[in-house]
Amino acid sequence: MDKNQDLLNRREASKLGGGEARIEKQHSQGKLTARERIELLLDEGSFQEIGQFVEHRSTSFGLEKNKIPGDGVVTGFGRIHGRLIYVYSQDFTVLGGSLSETHAEKICRVMDLAMKNGAPVIGLNDSGGARIQEGVVSLAGYADIFYRNTRASGVVPQISVIMGPCAGGAVYSPALTDFIIMVEDTSYMFVTGPNVVKTVTHEEVSSEDLGGAKAHAEKSGVNHFTADNDVEALKKVRDLITFMPQNANELPPEPSIFDYTESKATTINGILPENNQMPYDIRKVVDCVIDDNSFREVHEDFAKNIVVGFARIEGRTIGVVANQPMALAGVLDIDSSRKGARFVRFCDAFNIPLLVFEDVPGFLPGTDQEWNGIISNGAKLLFAFAEATVPRITVITRKAYGGAFDVMNSKSIGADLNYAWPTAEIAVMGAKGAAEIIFKREIAAAEDPQAKWLEKEAEYAEMFANPYRAAERGIVDAVILPEETREKVIAGFKMLENKAETLPQKKHGNIPL
Ligand code: HXC
Repeated sequence: MDKNQDLLNRREASKLGGGEARIEKQHSQGKLTARERIELLLDEGSFQEIGQFVEHRSTSFGLEKNKIPGDGVVTGFGRIHGRLIYVYSQDFTVLGGSLSETHAEKICRVMDLAMKNGAPVIGLNDSGGARIQEGVVSLAGYADIFYRNTRASGVVPQISVIMGPCAGGAVYSPALTDFIIMVEDTSYMFVTGPNVVKTVTHEEVSSEDLGGAKAHAEKSGVNHFTADNDVEALKKVRDLITFMPQNANELPPEPSIFDYTESKATTINGILPENNQMPYDIRKVVDCVIDDNSFREVHEDFAKNIVVGFARIEGRTIGVVANQPMALAGVLDIDSSRKGARFVRFCDAFNIPLLVFEDVPGFLPGTDQEWNGIISNGAKLLFAFAEATVPRITVITRKAYGGAFDVMNSKSIGADLNYAWPTAEIAVMGAKGAAEIIFKREIAAAEDPQAKWLEKEAEYAEMFANPYRAAERGIVDAVILPEETREKVIAGFKMLENKAETLPQKKHGNIPL
């Protein structure tokens, strides 16, 4: 046979993976194949495959008779919106996408190239886990990947899309990456599955309830983004990547064209309710400040009392962290602190400036919070902000109470600019509680203790429920009208454009994990 034709035949055979029947099964489950996914993820025609003919080396359990070129994972590089990307896509039609020694080597190869060339790695996961017939070499293969995930962390962005099973130790590769996107109904992640759970804890739970997209989006926070199907998941990756630089030595992509509806600058004036005990949606405030339709909320369904996400201001990427008065009055608790800290660290690692909106009544009280470690978890957010060297601006819209004020990107922990609206209340605690403590004797001795308490509460509120004590001390840099927020933030980030700050020389810090 013509040698060129032979090559073309081999290519075609490899593209069929585990064969038509298994492709059919994949489709019938609403899943795309590994190659179809890559086609949708990357710019048209940009995929360059590496290792198409790699085969496993196993001779156990008849596996030597079951060799499929590519060995269950499609690897290579290509472009998203013209920018270089490395990708691997597990092929469930080949031995259930299970990870063999050579399958792992292929993934490691693209990760090594990504590190050397400074470009993101995107992993499309759809696998039955360690190739059972291979035993320990498969486990070692996983560890080779984990090692690279860890070494690449903070060097190049890493995104994992879960598009099928992801169980056992296999979950730790996605867990080590920056963002996880799960497909609803067809993907799940767990360390031990329903059968083991039933044996050990006698709990009856389905795969979906235990480790589906919803469970991890709402309960564990493992899942950052949920997609309805494969196509939507891949679209989300293409969009997400536009907010990130290629690597930690670069800035996010240059300003793109942007829209800003001018009326938003005044809409912002009417968002806060008259009564300072009433909630409002902080995302409305965020929306009025950023470019139109530029907010991409991360972890939308987890720890809703803090809102985090990417946005753009005059076309440039920023990271937004905002207390959400609509959920738990915007308090900081264990989950919201973890959520905020993780996002701040991603932004800092990849040169994305931070914009913080603050309306926080304090930390959530309770035995549950204390015994589960609000101390060390709250400290994570504090540590993440204090360590961040990217430009950082805070806007206090309303409450900024107690330790939570310090934690939420206060100037003392390194924020570059701290603005406050006239509605800001910056104090050790709320006026009611403060009056009860410091005027305890006076209130008790009064003829009408309740009236005295109210009087003292008003006195304390008059003193601190405003931004001016803080402004007098320079703890806030300027008191601004809500409608001035966008222009102040734009001017602030422009001023900070060349900010250069380095951390003290050290091996690494010891964030309270
Ligand atoms: C080898 C595997 C495999 C595996 C699936 N297959 N998982 N082959 N190693 N781990 C093969 C099946 O034999 C089958 O081959 C094909 O893939 C499709 O599998 P099905 O079972 O028919 O598919 P489905 O019904 O959709 O079920 C998918 C599944 C199930 C739930 C993932 O296959 C399963 O439970 N697999 C085993 C999962 C597991 O225990 N893995 C090891 C976990 S331990 P044919 O030829 O029939 O098409 C682990 C440790 C990692 O991963 C540790 C890292 C530190």
